[in-house]
Amino acid sequence: MKKNRDIYDYIIVGAGIAGLYASLQIPEDKRALIIAKDKPWESNSFYAQGGISVARDNNDVELHIQDTLVAGAYSGDREAISVMVSHGVEVVNRLIDMGLQFDRDRDGELLYTKEGAHSTARILHLGGDATGRYMHSFFLNRNRHEILDDTSVVDILVDGESAHGVSIYKDGEMRNLYCRNLILASGGIGDIYKLNTNARSISGEIHGIAIEKGLPLQDMEMLQFHPTVVVMKDNETSLLSEAIRGEGATIVDEDGERFLFQYDERGELASRDIVSRAILNHKKRAYLSISHFEKEWFQKRFPTISKFLEGRGFKLTEDLIPISPAFHYSVGGIETDNNGLVKGYKNLYAIGEVASTGVHGANRLASNSLLEAIVFGDLAIKHSLSNEEPFEVREYPLIERELYKDGDDEVKKELQNLMWIYASIERRGETLQKALQRVREMMVMDIGRSLKLQLLTASEILSSAIKNRESKGVHFRVDV
Ligand code: SIN
Repeated sequence: MKKNRDIYDYIIVGAGIAGLYASLQIPEDKRALIIAKDKPWESNSFYAQGGISVARDNNDVELHIQDTLVAGAYSGDREAISVMVSHGVEVVNRLIDMGLQFDRDRDGELLYTKEGAHSTARILHLGGDATGRYMHSFFLNRNRHEILDDTSVVDILVDGESAHGVSIYKDGEMRNLYCRNLILASGGIGDIYKLNTNARSISGEIHGIAIEKGLPLQDMEMLQFHPTVVVMKDNETSLLSEAIRGEGATIVDEDGERFLFQYDERGELASRDIVSRAILNHKKRAYLSISHFEKEWFQKRFPTISKFLEGRGFKLTEDLIPISPAFHYSVGGIETDNNGLVKGYKNLYAIGEVASTGVHGANRLASNSLLEAIVFGDLAIKHSLSNEEPFEVREYPLIERELYKDGDDEVKKELQNLMWIYASIERRGETLQKALQRVREMMVMDIGRSLKLQLLTASEILSSAIKNRESKGVHFRVDV
């Protein structure tokens, strides 16, 4: 048995909002470790702008469930959605009781905004457009558990129905760490796409490990592209929150026409898959127009976005802002039950973007991701605390692996281009197949483990996209 210092009650892989909120629910007498690949704030949820959706009252619960189902092209799991929406009300109220200061009007009433495919304004926000940053800092400030940053998880130690720990790479050394409960909260796959909105550490490596270990994955072809992303010359991207459209911004083409109504009667507030496809198919440059907002109002409501745009020379609110869709969110992932438990395992959980709870169906409703992250993080810890089975931690041999090799950067660039061109908003069987073939060739090159895991994830996405011949939600096959 390993020395006591390396055995934890919980190891949480990922320090985004899902991982941090889950860690806050772990009693103080339990030993927990949070592992961050980069700095703890380099997570997708830290950069979340729009907000967190929540049913406004009992009457809104059913409507929120319906909106989630409709946005997901009726492919979502109704029971899981119902758990998220109903338990979400309780968890968000708990956050307010803890002192999280959602934006309020002058009378102290909570301010709700609207985003695409929501039939009512039910999105709470913080710091205008800095919801993720504020929530993340709020949780991080309250965290009592150990955080290991700049640490790569290179393997997970699983056997039969049990998880025993992780292999990590930190400061040039490999180590095994052991635990009684392993929680994967590592986020999505952004880094395998050339244009993406994700934090720099979000790479899909944990999905690759899950594939190696035979963990159940589902809906990996379901990838959401955000329609309003400003792309600068050097491919620097920045999200322009859907909440801007929720507040009334429009999308126009180079002739000044609001063309989205040709594609969907909801125009700018159609779901993201529809808006992204419309921009792609319209074949004219698309722009976000914020000209009917007062400059001061816009700066106050969207301070982060204003700062970014002004810093890049845009004149608020006069200039049209050129937009492009970019990869945003991985809808599928590691399959879990309604307690965040990975199917087939007794003490292995997946929460947040890395998980597939089934709530998003074929497309995620805007601002449901933070809600999903905290609800299933909460339920995962509750479930683990009620698990009374005696658990024996098993020791594993340490396997030395080279994480990065010379030449990886070039191969990765090719992967990112390949995925962007062939596995994005519209897909064809023939080119998906060619991309898969190339990814398989790359996998046998002399590359580091990190890239190998990303290639495994990419191959799973491509295979799932080839297998699924039905166009639904974000998966759009133009050849069938
Ligand atoms: C946004 O603010 O547009 C992104 C929010 C989300 O992805 O739900």
